[in-house]
Amino acid sequence: MIKYFLLPLGTFLFILIGSYTRKGKTDNETGAALKVNQLYQQQLDEFYTSILFLDSCIRHDMIEEELKEPFLHMREVFKSCEFLLVYLESDEARRINGANITTNHYHHMTPMEEKPPHGLQVIEDLIYNPEEGTRDELQKEVALLKALIALTIERNKAEFIIHAKDYNITIWDAVRLELFRIESMGITGFDVPESQNSLPETVAALNTLRQVVACYEQVFRKAKLKSRYEEGITLLDAASTFLDTQQDFNTFDRLSFMTDYLHPLSKWSTECISKLGYIYPVNVRPLNNEATYLFDSLIFNSAFFAPDMTPEKIELGKKLFNDPIFSSDGTRSCATCHRSDKGLADGLVKNQSLDGKQLLERNTPSLWNVAYQTKFFYDSKVKRLEMQVLDVIHNPLEMGGDVAVISGQLMNIPEYAALFNTAYNGTVNKSTTANAIASYLRSLKSFNSRFDRYIRGERELLTASEKNGFNIFSGKGKCATCHFAPMFNGLLPPHYKDNESEILGVPAHASTPSVLDKDPGKYATTKLELHKYSFKTVSIRNVELTAPYMHNGVFQTLEEVVEFYEKGGGIGHGISLESQTLPGSKLKLTEQEKKDLISFMKSLTDSPE
Ligand code: HEC
Ligand code: HEC
Repeated sequence: MIKYFLLPLGTFLFILIGSYTRKGKTDNETGAALKVNQLYQQQLDEFYTSILFLDSCIRHDMIEEELKEPFLHMREVFKSCEFLLVYLESDEARRINGANITTNHYHHMTPMEEKPPHGLQVIEDLIYNPEEGTRDELQKEVALLKALIALTIERNKAEFIIHAKDYNITIWDAVRLELFRIESMGITGFDVPESQNSLPETVAALNTLRQVVACYEQVFRKAKLKSRYEEGITLLDAASTFLDTQQDFNTFDRLSFMTDYLHPLSKWSTECISKLGYIYPVNVRPLNNEATYLFDSLIFNSAFFAPDMTPEKIELGKKLFNDPIFSSDGTRSCATCHRSDKGLADGLVKNQSLDGKQLLERNTPSLWNVAYQTKFFYDSKVKRLEMQVLDVIHNPLEMGGDVAVISGQLMNIPEYAALFNTAYNGTVNKSTTANAIASYLRSLKSFNSRFDRYIRGERELLTASEKNGFNIFSGKGKCATCHFAPMFNGLLPPHYKDNESEILGVPAHASTPSVLDKDPGKYATTKLELHKYSFKTVSIRNVELTAPYMHNGVFQTLEEVVEFYEKGGGIGHGISLESQTLPGSKLKLTEQEKKDLISFMKSLTDSPE
């Protein structure tokens, strides 16, 4: 039904573009967009053909080893259409290349339910780790992918990229986001955990971007920006040439690739959007449209992560954060556990309950950059910092206070009365109090470490060991497949709207690593089996200051943490945990590589207060 409706719509849009062209109004630009659409259509067709080929190889009973080559080819063709496919159809793209883990389907009208994974990453696993009886599954997955792409091709023929309101900004925004995606996911091996085919796939993705830019040659000329055009093509060619010099996944110098090629390219694309006069649609997005690269100090949009903040609210919030008035016995403030000399954590395995009779359930996390998340607590229990603040204050083990009552008392204190007057026109209640503290929390930004300054141009600031450590973090160590740039937490690129949780198999005690910690994690909130022992991926910024580590504070040093990962997490230590999302295999890091990894993490220390 929808299809029949869309076909005439497509024809209508086609005529619409045609009429623009005749008027000569946006002649070159429409021509460029049509060329991009044609290119995209060709790539989708090629993707479909590559799936048919893999399908026929399977039917001809080729063994899994022989299937690797057609599979890798198919992935590279996918990468050549990825930039628009993900941009235009993000749900579809997740079905095509989503992570190979069960997720949950959420709809507010129905109960949460589990959703098995499909697509390229499932196919990769079935080809690289075949088992008795998985052949049928492989055949089914390939058939499913074939059907999905056939539908995508149909839809695209009918709709054209115009269905987004302005096609030029759609295309250029998609180009810019693809550069961010390459940096935060592509080169880390995020979607190719088995084949580690990142290098050829990055070449394929960049090659498409070059073709897209080439479609705009006349547009640049007409705008008297010919040299800009040439700059872009030169940068894209240089990036591909650099990739050709790289040997393999483990030795790939990602840091140089980022600073010398990707960042100049994303800066170039951001500037072109403005110079060509393409206007972004007005909606508040996590990433700033003006940010020129992923580690730009402006990368995150305050309007999304920290709306309505004022210096007055922050000042008031800071005072409240340090005031013991919120604890029922007046002995502790937020700062008792979130200490500025401990990276806003407390240095303890677990802090004590208010009455001192028991330990809290979990280790105190750092609050640096807490704003850059859309879920809070280790189990992702709440989605707004204001809710989080109220939760802590009301928790009898933590503070045992009552915000409504305490807010009433605050107005009797002249200093607070003055601050509430300037910040909230004198309104003192539960919500303004929580908002003030949350505003202070959102102001706690730490994005200027030695590592950041190195990336931004101070190239003498990192040692060879720290640089190598970053390359291991983003490559052989697989760390960056969960701790995503630039916050190195679970905020998921390239849209940065959701925080991921993962199952690592963290033990209860370091001395008995084969015994799993019994904290159920996210399961406590969702009651979904797939969230059992799942914890939010925390940032490793300032991690030098926040020992001990993990939700239960089980590891005292970064060396212990790295050793845990080296052996494959819980599974590697003999815990039977089928749902573990961390690969259970050894990383095979050398002693020097482990040292480098830790040096890199320490280069992220930046505690401005
Ligand atoms: C007794 C120690 C203690 C006190 C006091 C305390 N916290 Fe915490 N805080 C913790 C612990 C432990 C956690 C982790 C709890 C969890 O994840 O289940 C936490 C978590 C948080 C988080 C979530 C961080 C994230 O990334 O998810 C925020 C925000 C926070 N606290 C803010 C505050 C504020 C604001 C106050 C004062 C109103 C406060 N805390 C008082 C111990 C404390
Ligand atoms: C499968 C996803 C995943 C991978 C891969 C991964 N991490 Fe983590 N990391 C997490 C999660 C989730 C947590 C929080 C776990 C918890 O608290 O139980 C975490 C916690 C940490 C912590 C502790 C932070 C703190 O303040 O307590 C450090 C340090 C760390 N990871 C470093 C690394 C390094 C180094 C690597 C690579 C060798 C790595 N991670 C790979 C998901 C991952």
